[in-house]
Amino acid sequence: MNKKGFIFDLDGVIVDTAKYHYLAWKNLANNLGFEFTEEQNELFKGVSRIASLKLLLEIGGKTISQEEFDQLLISKNDEYLEYIEQMDESEILPDVPRVLQYLKQQGMPIALGSASKNATPILEKVKLISYFDTIVDGNGVTKAKPDPEVFLLGASQLDMAADQCVVFEDSIAGIQAANKANMISIGIGDPEVLHEADYVFANFTDISIQFLNNIIAG
Ligand code: BG6
Ligand code: MG
Repeated sequence: MNKKGFIFDLDGVIVDTAKYHYLAWKNLANNLGFEFTEEQNELFKGVSRIASLKLLLEIGGKTISQEEFDQLLISKNDEYLEYIEQMDESEILPDVPRVLQYLKQQGMPIALGSASKNATPILEKVKLISYFDTIVDGNGVTKAKPDPEVFLLGASQLDMAADQCVVFEDSIAGIQAANKANMISIGIGDPEVLHEADYVFANFTDISIQFLNNIIAG
């Protein structure tokens, strides 16, 4: 039987949390006295918390002390946690449960591969955690996407060879990480932004059973 390991990013793929990360970074930038646009935010998707703040300070041309840096990280996360506190199943992106259910029925191993340190509570909140055989998140990796570490770890925890794994990602950095890991990369979002992906779909609704079967058989 053909088998593939399926690795899902979390933010912007499974749940609509990318908007909350953006809001929290935008408020932080505004408080520091500069703007932060949605276009600039594309480069923040998939990027770790620390790397994101460094990038934001570069955009604003700000230099701050280590103490202030640590404080800003905490306040950004506090604001983000307030947003996700209100989350429920309604924030699962369209047709994600259909695809998870189908893959599970077919006996495919499934992993989460996310940069977020908030991944487990979010999956619990939206009641999808039971689909995942393993969770690799920001608490378990040292190198941020576009480094392939998070996905390679996912593959090994699923006991699958990297080239037998498939990654769903909404970020440029994540697609690059999947490609470096020699995995099949499937972008969820805008094909212009995610042009490095092997396949791109606007959302999971556009992913047919036929497509999944071809990927599993391929
Ligand atoms: C990624 C998001 O999934 O996780 C990034 O795309 C975020 O925007 C990163 O910075 C880290 O998340 P968290 O929840 O640990 O701050
Ligand atoms: Mg993402």
